[in-house]
Amino acid sequence: QVAAASGHTVVLVDQSEEILKKSTKGIEESLKRVTKKKFADKPEAGADFIEKTLKNLTTSTDAVSVVHSTDLVIEAIVENQEIKNELFKRLDKFAPEHTIFASNTSSLQITQLANSTTRQDRFGGLHFFNPVPMMKLVEVIKTPMTSQRTFESLVDFSKAVGKSPVSCKDTPGFIVNRLLVPYMMEAVRLFERGDASKEDIDVAMKLGAGYPMGPFELLDYVGLDTSKYIIDGWHSLEPNNPLFAPSPLLNKLVEEKKLGKKTGEGFYKYK
Ligand code: 3HC
Repeated sequence: QVAAASGHTVVLVDQSEEILKKSTKGIEESLKRVTKKKFADKPEAGADFIEKTLKNLTTSTDAVSVVHSTDLVIEAIVENQEIKNELFKRLDKFAPEHTIFASNTSSLQITQLANSTTRQDRFGGLHFFNPVPMMKLVEVIKTPMTSQRTFESLVDFSKAVGKSPVSCKDTPGFIVNRLLVPYMMEAVRLFERGDASKEDIDVAMKLGAGYPMGPFELLDYVGLDTSKYIIDGWHSLEPNNPLFAPSPLLNKLVEEKKLGKKTGEGFYKYK
């Protein structure tokens, strides 16, 4: 959405037409919200902006058939090392020489993903934040193999889509998640111990620390499955680090398919 809105030609790839339809609808809704604010007293310019953005966006269920004409691939599939490696390995065979590959992974090592390809110098991390149309940050991750030219292209691209890039080495969680995920897990543990209700913890962090959402609202917003993937991955890397300890409550909710806002229930219920 943000790439198309800033004039880039985008092909959105997913597994089924059904998902793509849902995604396109989500983008249209989001564009309406953005437009309402950006073109408050110019509805015609707003309609034009939406039309132009949607013209820049096509969809496909076949990544291999579209990758031959791309300059940049941004992967944002399930947070699973093997599945990501498999996708990158396949795309590497069909992508042009100059094409840069980037992963939006929240927690996996970019270096390991890059190693599934033959273009380690043209591989980096581009980590966006939910909701991407609103959140200004992008973390640009440089592995020891990422060339300076690739890194600069990723920084330039981030700026071209209207974001503020920060740079971070390929370290678990980069900057934001390394701080945010242990904080959210600590909130879950506080609740699990019965020290405070989730509602009070959320109110406390909003009114006492000025956060726009409390930790439980944010966990539901990010997705409990995504949060679990992140913490499980780090726990297996550092089993003795108490910051990365899994939570029985989070595991239970995920097992019950209560994944947060997207499934209608997580820590909270959504109608
Ligand atoms: N698309 C377009 N516009 C959107 C939007 C979307 N998806 N979501 C919200 N907005 C706009 C609304 O239209 C609204 O605009 P307005 O001011 O003109 O009415 C504005 O954002 C404010 O929205 P709301 O009034 O609905 O609610 P809030 O004031 O609470 O703002 C929020 C919503 C921007 C999501 C804010 O609550 C927030 O910043 N929350 C924290 C988000 C956060 O921490 N994200 C990081 C998660 S971690 C992550 O993503 C990393 C990953 O690896 C796990």
